[in-house]
Amino acid sequence: MTVDDRFTRDLRQDPPTGTRNEVVVGPVSDWATDFSHVEPEWAADPYPILDDLRDRCPIAHTGRFGGGWLPTRYEDVAAIAYDTERFSSRSIIMSNYRPPLEIAPVGGVPPISSDPPFHHDARKLLLPAFTKKAVATREAATRAFCHSLIDSFEGAEVVDAARDYAQHIPMRVIADMLGFPPEDGPRFREFVESALEGVNLPPEERMAGMDELFDYLYTQIRDHVATPRDDLTTYLIEAELYGRKLEPAHVAGTIALLLIAGIDTTWSAIGASLWHLAKTPADRERLVAEPGLLPTAMEEFLRAYAPVTMARLVKEDMHWRGVDMKADDWILLSFPSANRDPAQFDRPEEVIIDREINRHAAFGLGIHRCVGSHLARMELRVALEVWLERVPVFGLDDPSAVTWAPGQVRGPRTLPIRIG
Ligand code: HEM
Repeated sequence: MTVDDRFTRDLRQDPPTGTRNEVVVGPVSDWATDFSHVEPEWAADPYPILDDLRDRCPIAHTGRFGGGWLPTRYEDVAAIAYDTERFSSRSIIMSNYRPPLEIAPVGGVPPISSDPPFHHDARKLLLPAFTKKAVATREAATRAFCHSLIDSFEGAEVVDAARDYAQHIPMRVIADMLGFPPEDGPRFREFVESALEGVNLPPEERMAGMDELFDYLYTQIRDHVATPRDDLTTYLIEAELYGRKLEPAHVAGTIALLLIAGIDTTWSAIGASLWHLAKTPADRERLVAEPGLLPTAMEEFLRAYAPVTMARLVKEDMHWRGVDMKADDWILLSFPSANRDPAQFDRPEEVIIDREINRHAAFGLGIHRCVGSHLARMELRVALEVWLERVPVFGLDDPSAVTWAPGQVRGPRTLPIRIG
């Protein structure tokens, strides 16, 4: 028997080389030339901004974050998502730091940070855990957990549906899949916030947050090396690629991705759906009366309030659809904006819960399309089914108290709902 000593040495990495740029904060002067997805105006309601840009300047620019572009038409978002020759996933979070070129084609959090050909192999490793069939085995436990959250509302007139309900569901599901202690939920929240919302911090501060995440992950991984279990962490520790076990950084990077991609996104989708139903009694009443409509309604919530925007880095200087892109410019790949393009969707600004044709891009387009989409849909459906069954009558307690996460994953973070 060989001893697995991959994880015994100190796996902390040297501060990476790469490009750092100055942090710019403050109100945006013109969204066409100075956009910033971390400013409060964007977090509160990005749709009027995106609609205006789509008409006026469909590929907007910013000098912030060291320079980047924001395509707002479906057609342009799709073209970039499919074009891995000219746009790299070496970093998919737009920040003030660009990792060095040598990090490609693997990237820090494979497969989302990987380019072809490596991407295909890293992605393939994950697929078996996320099939419809594999996900179905988790439905009963997810449903029971949702009921237990609602049980805890007993006696309350107002609850925070983002903090007390939506966030816990994906945290519990992914903790179970990875074999992590469920009571570490509050730490997961810190990691998610530092990875996705701390994007405009000085790079060194941001990296300190990432170090904490990886220290935590290596502790969990070492525990699994010592005591293997039937979960995704042990599966990744044992997995092989090209006849060899994975590099420690690959194992930890993929787990980091699953933890972060698995939590914030679904938390946002559940929260945005409940927010919509709380402020739209006609839709809420119809869904309570016709539960069979939920799968269709859910797709509409995903289209209209798509939580995820991803980034790319331009590989080489080029003239692209009327603009001059430079190597290492960011692209903010707005699936939410693509989903509201009138050239692609009829009446895109309206939420039509029985919309028949709805080929939305909330789960992305092309080779990086979401691996967790079956899981996300199961969690969203079960979360809404249980809520509507247990709390059929509800409304926003104070619309002005609702807050939304800024940055690339957008959803309600404070959502006071009157239930009594
Ligand atoms: C409503 C919830 C979710 C939404 C809207 C969403 C959205 C997305 C999007 C837009 C991408 C494409 C990224 C890109 O093009 O760079 C993506 C990729 C990915 N998502 Fe999700 N996601 C959700 C939930 C989940 C869950 C629950 C998991 C797993 C626990 C997950 C795992 C992944 C992974 C592993 C990738 C990378 C795939 C690749 O690079 O080949 N996602 N997701």
